[in-house]
Amino acid sequence: MALHGGQIPTRHDHARRVGNPLLGVANPAYESEVLPPTNALAADPVPADVAYQIVHDELMLDGSARMNLATFVTTWMEPQADKLMAESVDKNMIDKDEYPQTAAIENRCVAILSDLWHAPEPGTATGCSTTGSSEACMLAGMALKRQWAARTGNDVTRRPNLVMGANVQVCWEKFCRYWDVEARMVPLEGDRLHLGAVEAAAACDENTIGVVAILGSTFDGSYEPVADIAAALDALAAGGGPDVPIHVDGASGGMIAPFLDPDLVWDFRLPRVASINTSGHKYGLVYPGVGWAIWRDADALPKELVFNVNYLGGDMPTFALNFSRPGAEVIAQYYTFFRLGFSGMTAVQQASRDVATELAANIERLPEYRLITRGDELPVFAFTTSADVTSWDVFAVSRGLREHGWQVPAYTLPADRTDLAVLRIVCRNGFSRDLADLFLRDLQAVTTSLVSDTAAAGHTGPSGFHH
Ligand SMILES: Cc1ncc(COP(=O)(O)O)c(C=O)c1O
Repeated sequence: MALHGGQIPTRHDHARRVGNPLLGVANPAYESEVLPPTNALAADPVPADVAYQIVHDELMLDGSARMNLATFVTTWMEPQADKLMAESVDKNMIDKDEYPQTAAIENRCVAILSDLWHAPEPGTATGCSTTGSSEACMLAGMALKRQWAARTGNDVTRRPNLVMGANVQVCWEKFCRYWDVEARMVPLEGDRLHLGAVEAAAACDENTIGVVAILGSTFDGSYEPVADIAAALDALAAGGGPDVPIHVDGASGGMIAPFLDPDLVWDFRLPRVASINTSGHKYGLVYPGVGWAIWRDADALPKELVFNVNYLGGDMPTFALNFSRPGAEVIAQYYTFFRLGFSGMTAVQQASRDVATELAANIERLPEYRLITRGDELPVFAFTTSADVTSWDVFAVSRGLREHGWQVPAYTLPADRTDLAVLRIVCRNGFSRDLADLFLRDLQAVTTSLVSDTAAAGHTGPSGFHH
């Protein structure tokens, strides 16, 4: 039934003349009358095509996701993945009994990650999907806190703390605030722009629930020295000090290191590593939001945190902060694993690292810039201005790049290196050599105009990216 004539039909007309109130055909005269609701529901429905077009048009105001070099999150997947996601977006992950195959596919992904991260018995993998790394970190942190409480006799007079570098992602500060744990931040110092092993061990005491080691740092893409941190904590325990477990925040690196750095020992090969998280939606190559939390074994996950939901008439253990969640991202993660296999994943991640290291090297050749990292750990690097650049700064570069459509964050590093302001580039699948060359061309143009126009100088604070 058409809604036409240039008049907005009343609720009464609609109910009388339209069998399904969702049906209707767009009409230009009618469409011109429609304004999208901003504060309250409009009185009446609009045709689906009209609603689609108006919302679609508004979204054009967002930046281009593909030119967003700030985000770690996947911005392109194959059409086959899009199709599978559209087919499974209506499945609720929590309904294990209604969607047993989706549940089985989630378990396959948990087993695959446990295997990639060298869990002692990947066949009996312990882990779950989440909405992202933040939820996975909350779950892992809760497990650490429970384990510590059990170790220390559930003494409520003690205040637990979590040791981490000041460069942790904000989700760890959230965890500490939400779960009443002291966030024991080790400051950066000099050229050490992430957590050091000696400093981590020195910050631990009897109330430390764990040390968070990041693979790799959100601020500059560098890997924290997980094996050195484990060795320092081994020495601490051997010397009669506290026996502190490690959680590895592999939000990005958990999907990079297994493929590109097989000899780097950072995972469950280190007995001290109790749990690991990753973001399926970062270098796991899936659209947001999916993350994963994996424990070394069932013993690392306190039983009282696990809830059982009905699964084919039986009990299915679950550990999650939320309840309902679409199955699409988990299906897409499995598609990606299945589609690429080990060699495919390696090729995709290597291509991102190649683009990152080449682009970093090209930027290093520009006299106005100095590299902080080189893109040879995460395919992510940070750079700053050379010492002799005084009339403009990284914030001006970020603004200039935005005029060319590129979103590149500029920010100061955390304490005690807040004096250092950097630009950061995240190279993801889909940011090809060709695009990197075009980016370099635009960076050079921005730099040339800043150099020739000292009036463009000025530090106005961080550019507002928080990834
Ligand atoms: C090291 C690290 N941990 C945790 C997170 C949070 O991840 P998510 O966005 O998947 O919740 C991020 C996000 O950038 C990160 O870089």
